[in-house]
Amino acid sequence: FSLKKYNTFGIEAKAREFVAVHSVDELKEVLVENSSKKKFILGGGSNMLLTQDIDALVIHVDIKGIRIAKETEDFVWIEANAGENWHEFVLWNIDHNFGGLENMSLIPGNVGTTPVQNIGAYGVEIKDSFVSCEAVNIETQECKTFDKEECNFGYRESIFKHEAKDKYIITSVTFKLTKQNHKINTSYGDILKELEKNNISTPTIKDVSNAVIAIRQSKLPDPKELGNSGSFFKNPIISRDHFEKVKALFPDVKHYDVSSEQVKVPAGWLIEQAGFKGIRVGDAGVHKNQALVLVNYGNATGQEILSLSKEIQKTILDKYTIAIEAEVNVI
Ligand code: EPU
Repeated sequence: FSLKKYNTFGIEAKAREFVAVHSVDELKEVLVENSSKKKFILGGGSNMLLTQDIDALVIHVDIKGIRIAKETEDFVWIEANAGENWHEFVLWNIDHNFGGLENMSLIPGNVGTTPVQNIGAYGVEIKDSFVSCEAVNIETQECKTFDKEECNFGYRESIFKHEAKDKYIITSVTFKLTKQNHKINTSYGDILKELEKNNISTPTIKDVSNAVIAIRQSKLPDPKELGNSGSFFKNPIISRDHFEKVKALFPDVKHYDVSSEQVKVPAGWLIEQAGFKGIRVGDAGVHKNQALVLVNYGNATGQEILSLSKEIQKTILDKYTIAIEAEVNVI
């Protein structure tokens, strides 16, 4: 079974067996019937690089549905099933005037995988509006609710990348969103510039979403046109001592303060300065508008993209003494 259409990198890799599930009950049945088999869970396929065929039963979580779980005058609790497309879910909320997710417009992938890496963009992360998620234990088929605390969210991090990895399948996520007095966040990067361009001084959540969409479309490739997995690397967080040493050699290094002891350096800047932006090796490449994104021009293999990523990591380590870590899951 070809997985090319099921991963946004558009890598040709085969699954030994493949099944799509459309409800929690169906998921449990599949788990019971295949208890002895090796399993691989696939959501939106937007944050992984397949470097080999999957010698397992691939379970594609395609559970749809959005519901209002609870509401007050000011807030609404929305539960979305794992198979809902993330961006369509964001737009659904904006259409209902539910605020909180607008800065995360146009992020590829499905709702069920958003907690795994605590997706974020333009100054907002899902942990900011996340309440809980439901998950099925692969071994016991029991449902478990993970509240925000348990998820242990960090920058592109959660329990689902660590202790809970390969143990649970997320089936739905609940968010607490605003119905009025929306907390508009236009502090990051080019959002304000984009709003000013359109003469908007008091933006609505829809305006913020439109601005984010315009910015993303101007620098991030659309996976439907050019295979990619968003940022391939995380932005490295280094100690202030380390940063001062880097800055002494490269005075114009871009950076954000994380705390008094830690500094985040944009990996896109490091990769661009190291000369990789826009390069192409066979069908593997570094995007021309955003060096943090690796792309598949058509028929790159996962191994080719992986070796390009390793060359980038090595060069950055040699030149800047900074280790950059992959953000995507390398399979
Ligand atoms: N930069 C460069 N060259 C590049 C890319 C970036 O010099 O080719 C510089 C920019 O000029 C800017 C800084 O790096 O000063 C940061 O760039 P940008 O605002 O584009 O964001 P990023 O740090 O590269 C992160 C997220 C993105 C998210 C944007 C906006 C990570 C790993 N990536 O990228 O998330 O959309 O901020 O919030 O944190 C993703 O995770 O897949 C993703 C796309």
